Amino acid sequence: METTLLLLKPDALHRGLAGRIITRFEEKGLQLVGMRLMRMSQETAAKHYAEHVGRPFYDGLVGFMTSSPILAMALRGPDAIAVARRLMGKTFGIEADAGTIRGDFGCSKSYNLIHGSDSPESAERELGIFFPDGLEDWEPITAPWLWDAE
Ligand code: RTP
Ligand code: MG
Repeated sequence: METTLLLLKPDALHRGLAGRIITRFEEKGLQLVGMRLMRMSQETAAKHYAEHVGRPFYDGLVGFMTSSPILAMALRGPDAIAVARRLMGKTFGIEADAGTIRGDFGCSKSYNLIHGSDSPESAERELGIFFPDGLEDWEPITAPWLWDAE
């Protein structure tokens, strides 16, 4: 089982898409083990996006992500990091496949609704930033129907 960090970005909240986006992950069978509505500080944004420092879009990205609240979520499931990235679709809405979150809900490069960890190392680092007090461990009653027995 893996746990991944997702952020519903300010555009998702302004556009009232949070519920529909969360539903996609629930329907897929990923388990919610953390959720936090919060305003990202400059410091948190700088930490989270450290790999992008110096890129032409960096200042705009940090400005956007700190402009109004985000919804941070931790989701757990088999191969959750890759599964979530596939549900999200390619980075830019215009390129993302129909059926994905970014493909169905947007056409923007910068305002692409959602962030998802891209590797186990990123997930561990990012979960530590947004959920420093840890996650909620619980067993969904539907687990035997959702996940293969290992
Ligand atoms: P994310 O980190 O948000 O899950 O997205 P990603 O892995 O698909 O994309 P990444 O390359 O990590 O870029 C991080 C975020 O920066 C913004 N961006 N804007 N205008 C541009 O050319 C541009 N390029 C990247 C997007 O918000 C992207 O999600
Ligand atoms: Mg990324």
